[in-house]
Amino acid sequence: MTTATKPRQPLLQTALPGPKTQAIMERDAQHLSTSYMRPYPFVPDHGEGVWLTDVDGNTMLDFFAGIAVSTTGHAHPHVVKAVQEQVTRFSHVCLTDYPQEITTSLAERLVAHIEKPGEKWRVFLGNSGAEAVEAAVKLARNHTGRTHIISTLGSFHGRTYGAITLTGSKTKYKRGFGPLLPGVSHVPYPNPFRPPLGATAETCGQAVLDHIELLFSTVIPADEVAAIIIEPMQGEGGYIVPPADFLPGLRALCDRHGIMLIFDEVQAGMGRTGRMFSFQQFEGYGNVQPDIVTLAKGIASGLPISAMLAKESVMTWPVGSHGSTFGGNPVAAAAAHATLDLLEGVVKHEGCGESLMDNAREVGAYILAELRKMQAEFPFLGDVRGEGLFIGLEFVKPDGSPDGALRDRASMAMFEKGLLNLDCGEAVIRISPPLILTRGDAETGLAIMRETLAAL
Ligand SMILES: Cc1ncc(COP(=O)(O)O)c(C=O)c1O
Repeated sequence: MTTATKPRQPLLQTALPGPKTQAIMERDAQHLSTSYMRPYPFVPDHGEGVWLTDVDGNTMLDFFAGIAVSTTGHAHPHVVKAVQEQVTRFSHVCLTDYPQEITTSLAERLVAHIEKPGEKWRVFLGNSGAEAVEAAVKLARNHTGRTHIISTLGSFHGRTYGAITLTGSKTKYKRGFGPLLPGVSHVPYPNPFRPPLGATAETCGQAVLDHIELLFSTVIPADEVAAIIIEPMQGEGGYIVPPADFLPGLRALCDRHGIMLIFDEVQAGMGRTGRMFSFQQFEGYGNVQPDIVTLAKGIASGLPISAMLAKESVMTWPVGSHGSTFGGNPVAAAAAHATLDLLEGVVKHEGCGESLMDNAREVGAYILAELRKMQAEFPFLGDVRGEGLFIGLEFVKPDGSPDGALRDRASMAMFEKGLLNLDCGEAVIRISPPLILTRGDAETGLAIMRETLAAL
């Protein structure tokens, strides 16, 4: 891989969108679901590392990785080889019925990243994040014999019925789709930049915990609550990192009431923050070990596979009670193994240090520091936050309120300069590039960002 170490610039050969892109977008608009959004006129043709080339030959720098999915970049040779080898052996023999070495060893590798001494974990494999979330909620209800689930405002958990019920980010996901799952409540997420419940950045974690206890003594009997599901770092809601004391406090609250703690690591997990799971960033502040974890997105560099990890003491649902035809597909599992090889550093990626997790930490810290310098220069950058390559940039009006319109202009201007990016929250640009991003490529992306911000 020479491209990953050689700083490159986007190459724009046509005005965007080019003619071939335009033609495909017109056909797409005729035949595909009316629910698809199409915020940027880009039709990929092929990719290499952190670079994606469209059907008109325009090469863009990828700062969003297909929403935090393409962990190892595009067409990583190690992943391609693993997929090719598996597909020539077999592509499907239903995991619900037949064990397969490739998924057995994948489960062994995943639990090794979470098991504490004296603990044993098990794995259910699915196809998507929503499916992992559905599995987590079904397991929590089945295990506890309780029904109620608590989720957070601003959260995103997927688009199936259970998952949209849990989702708390936008009403468009729910409007016209009801009735949804009964027995679900939402509580505020402790966002230090916009603290809820009249709290401050420092006290908002405790304020949310107090709010949950208040609900338990007034409207939701705690002994009817099966689970609290939360993103340890909130993705779709705005790339938000909660205060350090919050997750240990939530763990203690769940323990007091016999409630399962589910961490949805679908977006922030799989090495993106510099640790395998984002909750592990808080281990220095107390016990944050969850009961159930959901994984998807970055797990297999773009092949569809998801995982629901649960403590063995919790995974008590009976034989035959849950499964999936495609879940744990062996080709996707091969891609997951190859992705883990690079994340763990079993296989090295040139120019990315000992492992992709190390690289995410180092390059992420560099990007954060550079963006904080820009924040000092541009007053409309209200907040720069994140961990590793999970970074949010919040745009504000002079009165401090979110400036979604300015964010949209910035995002489109960056795209037009060859930087693929994506919005989230009310006024945030998320930076979630492949974890193979080198410092040189980060510099290229930051230069585009600075140029854009200066021109706003
Ligand atoms: C935290 C989180 N959970 C669940 C999901 C749903 O994943 P999927 O779209 O693969 O169903 C997402 C997707 O963005 C997510 O960010």
